[in-house]
Amino acid sequence: MTGLEPGPVPRFHVAMFRTFRGGQSGGWRVTSISPVTGEPLPFMPALSVTDSDAIALPLVPSRNAWRLVGVPSSLRYTERPEKQQLVAVQAELGRLEATCAALIPIRKSQAWWELTQEERRRIFEDKSHHIASSLRFLPAIARQLYHCRDLGEPFDFLTWFEFAPAHASLFEELVAMLRRTEEWTYVEREVDVRVVREMLSA
Ligand code: HEM
Repeated sequence: MTGLEPGPVPRFHVAMFRTFRGGQSGGWRVTSISPVTGEPLPFMPALSVTDSDAIALPLVPSRNAWRLVGVPSSLRYTERPEKQQLVAVQAELGRLEATCAALIPIRKSQAWWELTQEERRRIFEDKSHHIASSLRFLPAIARQLYHCRDLGEPFDFLTWFEFAPAHASLFEELVAMLRRTEEWTYVEREVDVRVVREMLSA
């Protein structure tokens, strides 16, 4: 031991990029792709979700598929008591019974990004209660946020949710609630992709 051996590089031992690919094959069957605000995404019959530790950007467009990539990043707005509440109730992705999912890519406006961190937090939580009002949907809805604005992607965020079919109407209630908030007045592009897990036949 010389003390100079390289230590594990933080982050590079886990796949860093998550790619959602709408195309002809994948683990999820697409049931609908609805444009909520702004430019839509073309309908594709299947969605694949993959992780990789390197990716070539920009993603090259293709005629019969679309690809969106994001990174699970650090928290921007969540405060300690909120984090504790979330961790106490939230569910992990990948539950067997959660055969329904939604991929909702979102881009916010220039006006949002020109605000300061404090101003954004005020709108996100103090005025829109994004966290406080969403907590009651846990653990039924499992969630993961991916950031992609700094990757030069067409969206700022890729949001992903998994739930059992029995909670499908609860999920509708959640998205309808958030879309009525002040935070959402800053959303300039949003597409709602709904999928169900493709069951492999024996
Ligand atoms: C299941 C209930 C939900 C909970 C508990 C929840 C919680 C959170 C939390 C804690 C954050 C802040 C992360 C941070 O500190 O940076 C966040 C951000 C975000 N959530 Fe949710 N959320 C929920 C549902 C949703 C839904 C249904 C959507 C989309 C329709 C959504 C879209 C977003 C977006 C776009 C951000 C990023 C906001 C920004 O950084 O400007 N969330 N969510």
